[in-house]
Amino acid sequence: MNKQSTLTKKVNTMQIKIIRCKDYDEMSKKAAQKIISSIEKKPNIVLGLATGSTPIGLYKELIQDHKLHGTSYKHVYTVNLDEYVGLAPEDKNSYFSFMKKQLFDKIDINLTHTNIPNGIAPDLEEESKRYNQLIESLGGVDLQILGIGQNGHIGFNEPGTPFTSTTHTIQLTESTRTANASHFNSLDEVPTYAITMGVQNIMSSKEILLLASGSSKAKALQQLINGEVTEELPASVLRLHDNVTIIADEEALKYI
Ligand code: F6R
Repeated sequence: MNKQSTLTKKVNTMQIKIIRCKDYDEMSKKAAQKIISSIEKKPNIVLGLATGSTPIGLYKELIQDHKLHGTSYKHVYTVNLDEYVGLAPEDKNSYFSFMKKQLFDKIDINLTHTNIPNGIAPDLEEESKRYNQLIESLGGVDLQILGIGQNGHIGFNEPGTPFTSTTHTIQLTESTRTANASHFNSLDEVPTYAITMGVQNIMSSKEILLLASGSSKAKALQQLINGEVTEELPASVLRLHDNVTIIADEEALKYI
């Protein structure tokens, strides 16, 4: 990492809104309310979606609301943040399978409106370019949902990723592979590389909602909110965005 690309705290940072929830359920409900009201305002909204454990409760809430109140996703477009390299869409551990199981199969979204990077593209550089163009052709992301890694990653932008990055292939850190191993039979099965939207793609979203739950995220949130803006903590870049809301539970906010 060259020194020039490492931003330090000598930047003007924006006010991040923080919604403090008592637990995971409340976090999921609050996030769902926000997304539902955004869809009501703009039925053809472009949603940026995340995978992982954090948004599962949110997706459950959206499914329940769809069943009870009929919120429709017919005109909604989605772009997911990332996919594991080497996993075909039909692999049970792919993020495509995750999204189908956790959300897409249970709402009225048009699957042709959903987008996830292709982890088995023969040319990953071409695939990255295609994904950047796709986001652009949709007019950019209106509302991006993010989780946060224990090391402060967003998407799979691991510490040290340039803030100027767009969609790219990245080697996952051992801590990220270990954190994600519970979804696989063993650590060995967790892919070593992923293709992810870059920090710049995420920052181009009009609005960002970051969700966090549990004490394992507390240190990363503390650094995000009170630490330096630095590429060593990718999520800290969010302090340079003017429309970010963090919805997190007490445990994740225990140092704030
Ligand atoms: C997932 C993603 C990651 C996760 C992060 C937290 O699409 O981009 O940044 O949001 O690794 O994962 P969980 O929610 O499993 O703690």
